[in-house]
Parts: sequence; structure tokens; C-alpha cells
Amino acid sequence: MGTIVRCCSRDDVAPGSARCFDVDGHRIALVRIGDDFYALGDRCSHADYSLSEGDVWEDELEIECPKHGSTFSLKTGEPQTLPATQPVPVYTVQVDGNDVLVEIP
Ligand code: FES
Repeated sequence: MGTIVRCCSRDDVAPGSARCFDVDGHRIALVRIGDDFYALGDRCSHADYSLSEGDVWEDELEIECPKHGSTFSLKTGEPQTLPATQPVPVYTVQVDGNDVLVEIP
């Protein structure tokens, strides 16, 4: 069981978009699809580029690295396309009222 840390307010991330937050020293890409939130490590596993600056694929539940185009599953962090071959970390998200909370391991 990790530590539950407040990341932001729900309204800080528009539906269909992603935003980078520093949560307890972890650089996290928080993605919002409708009223659901997903938290991934923001650093692409291929090179040090910010996933939160990439496009969000709402139907596929993926985010695309803005540098070389690998897409990552929002649920598992696994890359779905090359050139990335390693997953990025995923974090458990809770929504409590207007607060978005992330579990830091
Ligand atoms: S840096 Fe993300 S795919 Fe290359």
C-alpha cells in the first residue's frame, strides 16, 4: 500500500487531455477521459520526452508520445507501438469530490 497524495482538482484537466504534475517527486501524466482519470509516468520509456504533451486517443485509451509516436495503454502503461518496448509506470487514481488523488508506491 502506497501513500495517497492529492494531485489536482478535477477541473484542472479538461476531458480528452493530459497534463503533467509533480506528485511527491514523481513526474506524472494525468489523463482525463470523460470523468475517468488515468495516471502514468510522464517520461516516455524510449527517451526523456513528456507523454503529457502527446495526443490522447480516447477510444483506444492510449496516449501517444509526441517525439516518435509510440502509444501507451492508459490502463497498463504497456507500449502498443514501436519504437518504445518498455512500459511506463501506472498509478492508481481515486477521485474524492473535486480532488484527484494518486497512490504513490
Ligand atoms: S521518445 Fe517516446 S517514442 Fe521515442
